[in-house]
Amino acid sequence: LFYSSYIKSAKYWSIKKFNFIKSSTFKSLKISLIVYPMSIKDIITVPDETLKKISDPIEKVGINEKKLINDIFETMYHSKGIGLAAVQVGILKRILVIDVSTKDEKKNPLSFINPIIKNVSNETSVYEEGCLSIPDTFIEIERPKVCEVEYIDINGKVKNLKCDGLLSTCIQHEINHLDGKLIIDHLSKLKRDLIVKKISKSKKNPNRIIV
Ligand code: NI
Repeated sequence: LFYSSYIKSAKYWSIKKFNFIKSSTFKSLKISLIVYPMSIKDIITVPDETLKKISDPIEKVGINEKKLINDIFETMYHSKGIGLAAVQVGILKRILVIDVSTKDEKKNPLSFINPIIKNVSNETSVYEEGCLSIPDTFIEIERPKVCEVEYIDINGKVKNLKCDGLLSTCIQHEINHLDGKLIIDHLSKLKRDLIVKKISKSKKNPNRIIV
């Protein structure tokens, strides 16, 4: 319909408001749209000290928060990540976005404001995790297989979500970001320092290009 064709044709614009009112008598459609530009933000990487800071809770979900969520989604999709926290674009707010859908599936963007883990399972699962803020590094991490998350959605409503498998791991990884914790914190200090040193060195290499 209009909605999907609009999204496809307008790559750099996002729909903030979409009202779909169907009158049963006239079978007419009334659509209202407010659009604003979206932007891809720079992702900060270690050893940026911002990544170690604790993000602040959101008090009210307003236009700025909605715009930030859209920008983080755009940045995440652009970087081919499956999750991204606001702190990774240098903004210390408790906001994160996730999309764990596979290439063949329809996009499934999920955004979480002030997420809190309420319950975790005893059963664990292990994934080899990477992080957009720690280039070229993958670490096997064991986390609870299932977790229940309470959060505020983009409309300001309190929601609960039971997460399993990849989604569970992803949301735990992202909530760790909001608390200044990174996957390299699961390693010994020696290993961690080595990784950070290597990344810092490669950043300084004048022949390093990103195309
Ligand atoms: Ni990460």
